[in-house]
Amino acid sequence: METTTPSMPRIGDLAPDFESMTTTGKMKFSEYIKDSWTILFSHPADFTPVCTTEMSGFALDQKFFDEHQTKLVGLSIDSIHAHIAWVNNVKKNTGVLFEFPIIADIDMSVSKLYGMLQPGESETAAVRAVFFIDPAGKIRLIMYYPLNVGRNMEEIKRALIALQTADKHKVALPLNWTPGEKAIVPPPKTVEEMIAREESDYEMVDFYLAKKELPLN
Ligand code: BEZ
Repeated sequence: METTTPSMPRIGDLAPDFESMTTTGKMKFSEYIKDSWTILFSHPADFTPVCTTEMSGFALDQKFFDEHQTKLVGLSIDSIHAHIAWVNNVKKNTGVLFEFPIIADIDMSVSKLYGMLQPGESETAAVRAVFFIDPAGKIRLIMYYPLNVGRNMEEIKRALIALQTADKHKVALPLNWTPGEKAIVPPPKTVEEMIAREESDYEMVDFYLAKKELPLN
């Protein structure tokens, strides 16, 4: 087993670029994701039960991701033929169609580039990774799950809304924040700002921990 720590993309890095075959055709990643939010997610293998529930979950929430200007891109270390057969199988069995592209990473190049191949977990299957990438192409949030535990779609959607909300209103968001709840105002940088804060209608725990309502839109 590999004992060195491989380099992996980090929050704040530009999403590494690649070209690959997908279920919707050839993709140059940087061009496909240009000016859009993107969720790039890997799964261990086609025709496996947990993966089928997860991919179906993304497909069933396609409208949510469209409404949040977010492209979905799936990946596993399987051939394009296996992907197409699996998409067809799930559609026939459940009526759910995976419309988003699924990368056929048969040479593992994208999995390695994104640290999705974690040899302590599996030498041949990608772990369940989720990369949230902003319209500037920057990685903003990363999740990694092991092979035997499925992800939480509600948390994926909450995290996406939280990132978009934090950007739009230039705020931070507290523990367990959900849409409609108050946001954290950045701490004051001067004594003058600290004193001004006392006159504000912020909910103040102390001068450095203040919350405010966000406008509805
Ligand atoms: C699954 O998706 O069910 C799965 C895939 C690889 C290992 C274990 C479970």
